[in-house]
Amino acid sequence: MTCRIVVLLSGSGSNLQALIDSIQQSAEHPAQIVAVVSNVADAFGLERARNAKIATQVLDHRSFTERTAYDQALIALIDQYQPDLVVLAGFMRILSSTFVAHYQGRLLNIHPSLLPAFKGLNTHARALAEGAHEHGCSVHFVTAELDGGPLVLQARLAVLPDESSQALGKRVLALEHQIYPQAVRWFAQGRIQLIPEGVQLDGTLLPASGFLFHH
Ligand code: GRF
Repeated sequence: MTCRIVVLLSGSGSNLQALIDSIQQSAEHPAQIVAVVSNVADAFGLERARNAKIATQVLDHRSFTERTAYDQALIALIDQYQPDLVVLAGFMRILSSTFVAHYQGRLLNIHPSLLPAFKGLNTHARALAEGAHEHGCSVHFVTAELDGGPLVLQARLAVLPDESSQALGKRVLALEHQIYPQAVRWFAQGRIQLIPEGVQLDGTLLPASGFLFHH
């Protein structure tokens, strides 16, 4: 059975592209991206979706005064596609607890830090400012807490001496493009599950930091 995926994004969509490529490159990938939804009409990620012949939808948050009303409309839009999994890929909106509860156990996010360190924005600059020796990215199931939720997968790298935040961000993004397709494939294969204690991979509870991706 194919795992139906809806991707939400607001920007460039390089993570969407990595997912598209990984699905296309595999002869028997168990997933299909059935729609890409954006709150930003000119997000380049929509262009990437159109190029891959994936349905696109725009729901502009500026035409809603209440977050909850926007999220209800977003749920209605997403559910038209009957997704098994909703993938946040640079969707720059804080989601209401109603939204998160609706997709509990089938909502993944990627964040450019080694969570729980550096939640929120400007993660690379903040990691450098704090003199972090290690940095990276995380895929997690989404809970109501911003950039919170049980971790599925992390990739780590050593920060280089005198590295700029742009250079660091680029290296982290390249890792994101490896771990997000991996996590999505695991989900589509039915190998990962959100359980009350955390995340299970192949029936075994993962450590709190998730599976460590080797690169
Ligand atoms: C990535 O850094 C991701 O970790 C964060 O938003 C960014 C999206 O980049 N959540 P892109 O649109 O996938 O290129």
